[in-house]
Amino acid sequence: MMRNDIAIAFFSRSGENYKVGSVERGSGALIAEMIEKAVQADAYEIVRERPYPESYEECNRDAEAERKANDRPKLKDPVPEVSARKLILVYPNWWGDLPMPVYTFLDSIDTDGLEIYPVCTHEGNGIGFTERCISQVYPKAKVMRGLALRGSDVQKDSAGTEAAIARYLSSASLI
Ligand SMILES: Cc1cc2nc3c(=O)[nH]c(=O)nc-3n(C[C@H](O)[C@H](O)[C@H](O)COP(=O)(O)O)c2cc1C
Repeated sequence: MMRNDIAIAFFSRSGENYKVGSVERGSGALIAEMIEKAVQADAYEIVRERPYPESYEECNRDAEAERKANDRPKLKDPVPEVSARKLILVYPNWWGDLPMPVYTFLDSIDTDGLEIYPVCTHEGNGIGFTERCISQVYPKAKVMRGLALRGSDVQKDSAGTEAAIARYLSSASLI
């Protein structure tokens, strides 16, 4: 049975990425699937309507322009209503911040009193400033202690990743 007290949303990019070469599924997508199984809830995938380029360099240029403009890009799929008051949010660290489509998503849901559990993938900068970024833009949300995982570790060590996620979810009383 699916539970409705916890929502899961993730943004993740397949294609060429730093340290991992070209991947069929981004690290966040792999993590989201593990979280879905562990908490027994479905995840919503945050997908930008206009896909990011496959090339890492081109994606960097595209994402940087979007970030400088503080853009809220259109999403491919309609955002579902989030009635759960706990949200596990999986995203990569992009220059210490969230990818802009994640803001589009958060703008579309009711963040008043929402407990946000950030799960951030990165390649060296950890969770960066992302927790602070969320708190600043959504002051009515409650940003809970997060989890940071290296994308390259997630890609090569699924057992270790699954164990780290289980520890985190259990310490946060989400399972
Ligand atoms: C546009 C862009 C910017 C990034 N900026 C950072 C950064 O500032 N610090 C960092 O540690 N990793 C950075 N990374 C690496 C990603 O956080 C890392 O590859 C992550 O695992 C990607 O998750 P995904 O596979 O779910 O998309 C960046 C990657 C991209 C594509």
